[in-house]
Amino acid sequence: MRAVIAGTGGYLPARSVTNDELAAWKGLDTTDAWIVERTGIRRRHIAAEGETASDMGLAAARAALAAAGADASDVDAVIVATATPDSAFPSTATLIQGRLGSTRGFSFDVAAACTGFVYALGVADALVRCGQARGVLVIGTEVYSRILDWTDRGTCVLFGDGAGAVFLRGMPEAEAAGRGILSTHLHSDGRHGEILHVDGGAGSTGGTGVVRMAGKEVFRHAVAKLAAAVDEALAANRLAQSDVQWLVPHQANIRIIDAMGKKLGLPRERVVVTVDRHANTSAASIPLALAEAARDGRIARGDLVLMEAIGGGLTWGAALARF
Ligand code: UT7
Repeated sequence: MRAVIAGTGGYLPARSVTNDELAAWKGLDTTDAWIVERTGIRRRHIAAEGETASDMGLAAARAALAAAGADASDVDAVIVATATPDSAFPSTATLIQGRLGSTRGFSFDVAAACTGFVYALGVADALVRCGQARGVLVIGTEVYSRILDWTDRGTCVLFGDGAGAVFLRGMPEAEAAGRGILSTHLHSDGRHGEILHVDGGAGSTGGTGVVRMAGKEVFRHAVAKLAAAVDEALAANRLAQSDVQWLVPHQANIRIIDAMGKKLGLPRERVVVTVDRHANTSAASIPLALAEAARDGRIARGDLVLMEAIGGGLTWGAALARF
């Protein structure tokens, strides 16, 4: 069986905040010029009061189902990648399953920080290949605005809220005709947990904690580890860099994105970039970018798409898919 990406969808909160507005609103000692130069971020969406990961994920999931011409009765499994679940349980995936009105199958969350979507895609692909599920919703949804230290300019300007989703349809290989998830490559190294972490949680402090990051160190790991993951994905499929039609990277920093595009020899217009308008939406960043590029017609059926991400853990990975 092959897991074919049958539809994509995205959701962004209504409120979009520019760098200057953010600095004034939160009283931050920063400038638009610094943020744009060091990260490429110009604005980000911030969830409304009471708007949760399940609210946003549900909207993205509905859009993905509609794009696939599917409905809740086609869904066997819901997998949500998030670091900002509504609550410890029910899982955000189960909340979304319930609100979709889907009563069969199963649902669960995946915790791999900014790599969450790649991990969830890997799990979903395995479920489809082994015949345990046929229709799978894979969702990344995040409200980082609730886990930021709004006095720390080194982190709070970097993140935004949003959700993205794909609907995977299991097809026999002959019917898929080369389309689908080709492979996923997942990695983690817990020795580097300290350089990007949340300093609290239900099972330790009882609170939620806030994001702490040693930015320069994460940057260094990102460039090396993402390059290796990209090479691994291509080698596993006996593909060359020149076969890649679209790079859809995790959106943390335009300098990291540009480094990956350059490594692959891809012109800028073949790299899907949303970091300027969305900032870093963690597990939501790749499916949001996929949804945007599918909706505006850039990514078309048959295109080879390479995805890669790195995040807290450290976790990192890559996925190759033919649309
Ligand atoms: O999604 C998970 C993966 N995350 C990432 O991939 C993030 C990777 N890291 C990065 O993107 C970059 O390291 C950052 C954007 C976080 C930081 O950029 P940098 O070029 O590494 O800057 P830095 O942290 O070394 O800081 C340089 C200077 C410091 O001042 P001093 O010590 O040189 O006087 C910071 O205090 O910039 C200062 N600074 C700021 N200035 C204005 C840090 N944040 C800000 C700010 N506005 N918002």
